[in-house]
Amino acid sequence: MTCPRKQSFHAALIFLFVAQLTAGLKCVCHLCANHTCETSADGACWNSVMLIDGKEETVKSCLSPSEMKGQVFCYSSRNVSKRNCCFTDFCNNETLHIHPERPLEEPGWSRLQLTVVIVVPSCLLCVGILLGVFVVQGHHCAYSRAHKQDPEEPLDDQMLMSPDKSLKDLIYDMSTSGSGSGLPLLVQRTIARTIVLQEIIGKGRYGEVWRGKWRGEDVAVKIFSTRDERSWFREAEIYQTIMLRHENILGFIAADNKDNGSWTQLWLVSEYHEHGSLYDYLNRYTVSTEGMIILALSIASGLAHLHMEIIGTQGKPAIAHRDLKSKNVLVKKNGTAVIADLGLAVKHDSNTNTIDIPSNHRVGTKRYMAPEILDESINMNSFESFKRADIYSLGLVFWELARRCSVRGLHEDFQLPYYDLVPSDPSVEDMRKVVCDQKLRPNIPNQWQSCEAMRVMGKLMRECWYTNSAARLTALRVKKTVSHLSAIKDVKE
Ligand SMILES: Nc1ncnc2c1ncn2[C@@H]1O[C@H](COP(=O)(O)OP(=O)(O)OP(=O)(O)O)[C@@H](O)[C@H]1O
Ligand SMILES: [Mg+2]
Repeated sequence: MTCPRKQSFHAALIFLFVAQLTAGLKCVCHLCANHTCETSADGACWNSVMLIDGKEETVKSCLSPSEMKGQVFCYSSRNVSKRNCCFTDFCNNETLHIHPERPLEEPGWSRLQLTVVIVVPSCLLCVGILLGVFVVQGHHCAYSRAHKQDPEEPLDDQMLMSPDKSLKDLIYDMSTSGSGSGLPLLVQRTIARTIVLQEIIGKGRYGEVWRGKWRGEDVAVKIFSTRDERSWFREAEIYQTIMLRHENILGFIAADNKDNGSWTQLWLVSEYHEHGSLYDYLNRYTVSTEGMIILALSIASGLAHLHMEIIGTQGKPAIAHRDLKSKNVLVKKNGTAVIADLGLAVKHDSNTNTIDIPSNHRVGTKRYMAPEILDESINMNSFESFKRADIYSLGLVFWELARRCSVRGLHEDFQLPYYDLVPSDPSVEDMRKVVCDQKLRPNIPNQWQSCEAMRVMGKLMRECWYTNSAARLTALRVKKTVSHLSAIKDVKE
């Protein structure tokens, strides 16, 4: 009985999509630098409003086809939220309200006529379509109830936000539902706005990092200044790359931009790791050989996951980090590590063999820059170049780590790579002289040869920092070598 209606409804939708297939859309975007974004060929403009603390909060942005498919319900109208997808340029410019005010009545015969001639039949048609949809949904719900939650089915944001959900539950829901790229925007915003900041834990190039509490759990909040809006947006974008989630990549939770009238607060919420960065950790503690291997293996696994392209609809592009250093690796309670700070990362589009953003020559931290970046001989047209530069930095991080490994009570003090060869805030020129002209690398002490784990680590780092970038190991090779090491029972001697 519902088939003809359903078919015409689908036909209308298909028509809308086909009409838009050839070009992307321009949409109003709150989260974008110039308040405009452009969708890919079959995307949509998104418009939503939500009641938070009794106030209406709106979000307008572009939707990618994958978000439309898996993550976001396009149409909904409830007591606390309302959203809409549309398919023409800047169609999301109108302001939605939860309780729309009644438009002022303009008396006049033509208005009444219009109402009768256009609105009433349209309403009847809508009611018909809605009835059809309800009937189909009724069947579907009964089916779902009988067959439990289908993992392919997008999760309702109100269900996600039920008060007994912990962060772990949310992150689990996020990875088993939808497009695999993160929580729906409204859920992200709701989480961010219910965090209570506790204390500042660090300061970096792009602002402050705070420890915050959400439903009694610790979270890390990176607060960007307004002038670093691009960095905030880029980092949020990279963290929400489809299928990026991995046990050795910092767990992203939410991004939010809150306008308080005079300035905009830009937040990036992630999992909190009380040990802080690997830099902080190695400054404070030494590690056993097992501890070193666990840290080295998890850093290599994180980097191998970043670098790897996974093909398929639920795949991920290859990503190069471009700012790998001990300050951008965080240490978890269980002694493993996660790679953080993806704000400078670049993604590879293997179909067109291009990189997703125009890449300037020298980004990252000078001390960790590969020789080909320092002397500008890097081939920017090849994505492989960026991965190889990451491997050079990985070698330096391994060196910092191995120095703190205590074998028979012996270890070295914590030092940054090239601490003995360049000043504390080295210029590119300082680094170039040492790394490119003199071809120097951090010192590998002789005593590392007397312990198998240290010997292998020493060999690995040498093979990561070759001047010839093509000769360097791949992240996957490093991961495999370290994992063989962890399989050796007696690595202590
Ligand atoms: N998720 C987190 N959990 C716990 N501590 C964190 C977290 N993220 C960052 N920190 C702490 O905050 C500090 C500042 O981080 P941030 O990334 O802003 O700067 P940085 O890495 O020190 O320097 P840079 O700006 O060059 O990356 C880190 O060094 C770390 O100690
Ligand atoms: Mg950092």
